[in-house]
Amino acid sequence: MLTTLTNSTPDSLAAIAAEKAIRKTGSLVLLFSMGSQFDHLIVQQLAKIGVFCLVADPVKITAADVERVEPQGIIISGGPASVHSEPPPFDNHIFDLGIPVLGICLGFQMWAKHVGCEVTPAKKREFHPTEFMLVTNRGPLLQEWGVRSTVLQSHGDIVQLSPRIEVLGYTDNSSVAAAQRAHLWGVQFHPEVSDTEYGTQLFENFCGLICGIQDRFPAHDVAAQKIEQLRKQVDGKKVLIALSGGSDSSVVAYLLKHALGGDRTRLKGIYIKGVDRPDDEADLLRFFGNQPWIQIEVVDATDALLAALAGKTTGKEKRVAFRGPYPEVLEQKIREFGADFIAQGTLYTDLVESGHGHVTGARRAQIKQHHNTGLTFSIPELMPLADCVKDNARNIGRDIGVPEELLIRHPFPGPGLVIRIEGEVTAEKLVIARAADGILMEELHRAELYEKIWQAGARVTKSEHTTTKGDDAGLGFVIQWFAVASVNGFTARAYDVPFEVRQRIADRMGNEIREVGATDYRDSGKPYSTIEGE
Ligand code: XMP
Repeated sequence: MLTTLTNSTPDSLAAIAAEKAIRKTGSLVLLFSMGSQFDHLIVQQLAKIGVFCLVADPVKITAADVERVEPQGIIISGGPASVHSEPPPFDNHIFDLGIPVLGICLGFQMWAKHVGCEVTPAKKREFHPTEFMLVTNRGPLLQEWGVRSTVLQSHGDIVQLSPRIEVLGYTDNSSVAAAQRAHLWGVQFHPEVSDTEYGTQLFENFCGLICGIQDRFPAHDVAAQKIEQLRKQVDGKKVLIALSGGSDSSVVAYLLKHALGGDRTRLKGIYIKGVDRPDDEADLLRFFGNQPWIQIEVVDATDALLAALAGKTTGKEKRVAFRGPYPEVLEQKIREFGADFIAQGTLYTDLVESGHGHVTGARRAQIKQHHNTGLTFSIPELMPLADCVKDNARNIGRDIGVPEELLIRHPFPGPGLVIRIEGEVTAEKLVIARAADGILMEELHRAELYEKIWQAGARVTKSEHTTTKGDDAGLGFVIQWFAVASVNGFTARAYDVPFEVRQRIADRMGNEIREVGATDYRDSGKPYSTIEGE
């Protein structure tokens, strides 16, 4: 599967065709990701409306490539560059192809400059929600928008008024907050974040009314087909499902709920505890613990996992060791429950990107070091999402009532906190890693940053730092934590977490976890650092 479009070779075109087939669509929007902190939210917004959004590399993709790929629309995101001081790498001929373009912030400034508008530094830099006013002729892009609404502005440059563009809306600080010129559409604000009141509507308008994309992923039909197929397969039989608290296995549980007609005597979820994070278990129990249609059992496999991991110090050794206890626990539970089938949330992408380490030096996004594929069980496996990519699975989940909170969780390595502990995994370090992750997630949610960040995590390093806590002095572990902005994990930048939030996280980690000696926020991006440490 293509994570990022970097050329238009026959192989890439074939991969796009395959992905369109999986997504049951003939349409495609290319997203030129210019490095905004919010790029992944654009992909999410399009996914929610069933539109296939493929990320394109602005440095490598030319107008000729775009013509070969034949997208129905193009989105150019915001980013740290500035059209006058640091022009972003981009083939401006793309603007002349006649394909509808939605420029967001920097993306808008890029096409505005290309058509001859003046782009200047704003008098006041804006990084906050602000009031947006529509002009009378709103055009298709702003259909269904209220006359006044809130949008999130985050920019240092502005497009000046010009007869070359038609203004669609304005704010106090920018007289051109939304504009159009022929097939080129632009907004100065960020429609992808939830602070922008009608943001989702803007994407719907762009894709539906402007690009004419009508063949969306039919989540409803696909869910119904899958339920029907499962119903036939599991007719009268019992199913054990491995639940992780993540989105894919949750979607499968809900599919089974419908297929089994809510019969909880035939559906049991197993949650394997040990190298998981505190909110995995909490979410699992919150969303599944008291459901009338599924039995839940939490199996504490900490001892077995620690025994398998003992003496293993490299990332590779630990990833391999992790695979051992996982199927053993499930096999035991299969026997106890008398299950006829074992269900898993494995996706098409998991099977294709079979987790064989590094591709061109960087691990691929969402690699599963397959604790859940290629295992042999004594009973047949059900993998109803094996022909879906993540977006499809999420949309099916939305259609059948899976809570949104479960669907939009950050990606997390399959081998869990094993990846977040440097060197040997010990009981002590596991407790520290869990506590540190818990604090980090709580604080990111509290600061309303969780959704805006693509992924965050805390890592127990081998480094130590001297501490002075009350009357106690000694050595404590250094926790290194990260929060990245990314569009698909292929590249990433450190998220600009406000200083007060970083300080609160540092204070809490140091005060609430006795063994912590210091905390560090990792500023390096990918490349050159990978997202996880090993
Ligand atoms: P890196 O570290 O290569 O990570 O920049 C890219 C994305 O992949 C996730 N990742 C993993 N996911 N098993 C997984 O299921 C793994 O072993 C693994 N290693 C990295 C990482 O969290 C990031 O989202």
